[in-house]
Amino acid sequence: MTTSKLPVVALISGRGSNLQSIIDEMHAGRLPIELRAVVSNNPDAHGLVRAQAADITTCILDHRQCSSRVHYDQALMAAIDEHNPELVVLAGFMRILGRVFVKHYADRLINIHPSLLPEFPGLETHARVLQNGAREHGASVHFVTPEVDAGPIIIQATVPVYEDDSPEVLAARVSREEHRLYPQAIRWFAEGRLEIRDNRVLLDGAEQPEQGLVHAK
Ligand code: GAR
Repeated sequence: MTTSKLPVVALISGRGSNLQSIIDEMHAGRLPIELRAVVSNNPDAHGLVRAQAADITTCILDHRQCSSRVHYDQALMAAIDEHNPELVVLAGFMRILGRVFVKHYADRLINIHPSLLPEFPGLETHARVLQNGAREHGASVHFVTPEVDAGPIIIQATVPVYEDDSPEVLAARVSREEHRLYPQAIRWFAEGRLEIRDNRVLLDGAEQPEQGLVHAK
């Protein structure tokens, strides 16, 4: 029996540890996807090495070579669409994408963010959580909408924040959860179990308690 696999393209900018968690789950046969390409805006992204090691097609589209954001987004769309993905995964892609791009991939563009959205959108989330004195932090996977870090949430995980945490220690704790969350969200998408209604994500047709919040053990 042949089962069809969801064609996916992933976008990265750096380390690629989330990309690695997706590749690992795919290779373990737990993720029904075909990762057709990994695109990076950064030629030095370590994620490119990870993709090449897994025999996945890579593409570098350096934003510094592009005259404007609009042109960059157009080139990015062309590079992605060459692979006909049904899902585009932002895995540490550190560029803001324009409305045209987001609209083009509406309901098939997802992102992972290192905070419990809507808390702490934007950059430097771990340092800001510590400055803020928050006792809880986490990660979120969400559909991308034109407003940055504001789309409907698919799944979240919480981690505790300890008094003596440094941003690096806290980042590592969040990162471990991200590596569980992202493959799970992609699996649900690939299995056709997600639906967006009234800006909320339904799993198997039902609202998830606490928007899919998972508490780290
Ligand atoms: C991850 O923590 C991800 O949540 C974050 O970048 C990191 C990438 O790590 N993304 C954002 O901040 C997007 N706003 P990785 O390259 O090791 O996967």
